[in-house]
Amino acid sequence: MSKNNIAVNVENLSKVFRLGVKEQTSENFAGALWGFVRSPMKNFRKYRSLYNFNDINLSEEEQGDDILWALRNVSFTVNEGEVVGIIGGNGAGKSTLLKILSRITPPTKGNISIHGRVSSLLEVGTGFHPELTGRENVYLNGTILGMRRKEVAQKFDEIVAFSEVDKFLDTPVKRYSSGMRVRLAFAVAAHLEPEILIVDEVLAVGDAAFQQKCMNKMQDVGKEGRTVLFVSHNMPAVTSLCDRVVWLDHGQKVSEGPAQEIVGNYLLAGMVTKAQREWKDPASAPGGQFARLCAVRVVSESGEVMEHGDIQDPVGIQMEYEVLQDGEIMLPHFRVKNDNGVLVFVTLDHDPDWYQCPRPKGRYISTAWIPGNFLNEGPYFIDCNLITRHPDVPQFNEREVVSFAVTGNMEPGTARGDWPGRLGGVVSPALEWKTAYSQ
Ligand SMILES: Nc1ncnc2c1ncn2[C@@H]1O[C@H](COP(=O)(O)OP(=O)(O)OP(=O)(O)O)[C@@H](O)[C@H]1O
Ligand SMILES: [Mg+2]
Repeated sequence: MSKNNIAVNVENLSKVFRLGVKEQTSENFAGALWGFVRSPMKNFRKYRSLYNFNDINLSEEEQGDDILWALRNVSFTVNEGEVVGIIGGNGAGKSTLLKILSRITPPTKGNISIHGRVSSLLEVGTGFHPELTGRENVYLNGTILGMRRKEVAQKFDEIVAFSEVDKFLDTPVKRYSSGMRVRLAFAVAAHLEPEILIVDEVLAVGDAAFQQKCMNKMQDVGKEGRTVLFVSHNMPAVTSLCDRVVWLDHGQKVSEGPAQEIVGNYLLAGMVTKAQREWKDPASAPGGQFARLCAVRVVSESGEVMEHGDIQDPVGIQMEYEVLQDGEIMLPHFRVKNDNGVLVFVTLDHDPDWYQCPRPKGRYISTAWIPGNFLNEGPYFIDCNLITRHPDVPQFNEREVVSFAVTGNMEPGTARGDWPGRLGGVVSPALEWKTAYSQ
């Protein structure tokens, strides 16, 4: 498939909820279709209205306590074969967007166009009819995707093997646990060869082993050149799976771009500090009698200022300062804290060229290197300090002056390996393990 064909086009999409008014929607497209089949006349009007997007006159300015814009003028496109992540805080509009794309709920305004058969797995609706058995639901879903019975039959064993619910195949789905439903639903959605796979938060349900299986399957689907839209709060899952990310906040698109970059910015959002701080005017720069701070930066190995970096890459924290008089011994140091305010470590400048040596007047740039595979995923804040020794006199002490974020991945060689969730702990070193074995 060509990478340049558009699979999903979303244009100025808005969705308004009137609070206190219950929306008549099905949990999923299968449900909508099933209801439609069972009660044609009643549902015909409803079904038609699902596609009638622009008949609601609602001014952009319409506000009020009972009006909630779940999505507001969101536009983006997804090319065929792309794996795109949708991220954002709780209530950002992610699920609403996926429900509109899956035709489960209509938008208030705007247009969507979809080129290809969609299969979706949403957080509540799992694409099943509760009264039908697992087996019947697999066939129903296949039919909805436009597959012949024979085609579904060919995939049937694979689906059952993936879902591990073989014992319950002839049990109505309403008797399934939510974990079982999601297993079967994911298996169906991923194996029935949709051209576009839409997945909302599936990794939040199920145990770690199943989560891992889903991740691998989605990766395969992406590699086969099919399109995947994936919502998750698990940022490492997003960065390792997705090529591109769309970030939503309060119903609006904040930005979209390469996964690492957007996830890094998302992790840093709300932080007032940035990866670089400079004092151009010496009069207002922090400093004392002997030294003055010029700049503090977080840099990559190649020396670029960096707001976020991969967990495997080293991070440089750098201070640029001026020594104002000859002859003092200086001790620059950094304190690194995480977003819970925990002091992760303190690092002192032990560069043998300068440690305990009097320094001549001039400009200095001192960089401390934090190795890759050491800090855990998440945001960090740096305090930048310098004291003169014998006696110890602070020259500057700037708290939380710069920040940066470490983004995780599930590559080999990281502490978590292919484990799907963030590991606990303040740091996340990739330690060497050896196992002795005897019989
Ligand atoms: N049926 C509904 N009626 C009223 N408000 C709704 C309805 N569905 C969603 N909302 C509201 O729309 C907003 C967006 O919700 P949505 O479920 O799309 O967020 P989300 O990004 O998926 O959040 P989460 O990360 O918590 O799953 C929220 O403020 C939510 O309360
Ligand atoms: Mg949601």
